[in-house]
Amino acid sequence: MADDTVTKTAELGALDGRIAPSDELTIPVTDEGLLRGDGVFEVIRVYDGTAFALADHLDRLERSGANLRLPEVFRSELESEIPELLDARGGRDFDGSLRIVITRGGRRLLLTEPALPKPPGVRLGIVTYAPTRVLDGVKSLSYAANMLCTRLAQERGFDEALLVTPHGRVLEAPTSTLFWVAADGTLCTPPLDEHILASITRDRVLRLLDVEERPCLTDTLMEAGEAFLASTIREVQSIGAVEDVEFEEGPRTREAASTFRAHVEAELARAG
Ligand SMILES: Cc1ncc(COP(=O)(O)O)c(C=O)c1O
Repeated sequence: MADDTVTKTAELGALDGRIAPSDELTIPVTDEGLLRGDGVFEVIRVYDGTAFALADHLDRLERSGANLRLPEVFRSELESEIPELLDARGGRDFDGSLRIVITRGGRRLLLTEPALPKPPGVRLGIVTYAPTRVLDGVKSLSYAANMLCTRLAQERGFDEALLVTPHGRVLEAPTSTLFWVAADGTLCTPPLDEHILASITRDRVLRLLDVEERPCLTDTLMEAGEAFLASTIREVQSIGAVEDVEFEEGPRTREAASTFRAHVEAELARAG
């Protein structure tokens, strides 16, 4: 007998305040968030029911919305709907992430998602990429280019892409920030004026550790002893290789990982 059972996920969503299983929520096909990727989003890590760095994410959502000329991002509604949704999803039993989407059609969507493991030693393949400058300061729904970069790198056998401009400047990965240890021992990350995302994890790492913002050429990165990616979902994830150059998980990466972890735990303890 054919098995036509639709597998339901445990994930929940809220659309304009109405909570329901995620796969039952629908938005009109005419919403330009769908038709043109015209809208903004955030992904927030939820540790045992607590949304980490929530205020920072809502601040960035407001900046994104203003830069994209969205009329509003419904901050006060989100502030009351997020705890409601997380409670409904299991409260302290939920460890995962929360996606917020605000569309040009004026819809606000919250979705819980599982936390997928990000093993250390990620192998990166270079993909040539030119940032869309008009979208500086916008975490927009137009992420097809970033997703394609990952696929292109994976087609070549890598885990993830490393975005590099046509002039050889290393930017970031499609959903994470790059840090590397320069030949002089300095922990570095590219500056925001390279048209990269103002990552919240990047900002925390910059405040926790001694980091210099430096533009980075591919050759410079290849001479680094160690390097890592940082993001809401990855926290600190060591880089195992860029193209055919191997990297070690060294002491600076371990220090960044443990310092960031301790910072998360301290902030969660204060919140809870
Ligand atoms: C292009 C890009 N860079 C960096 C990051 C990391 O940002 P955050 O630390 O705020 O998760 C993301 C996150 O999605 C991203 O999309």
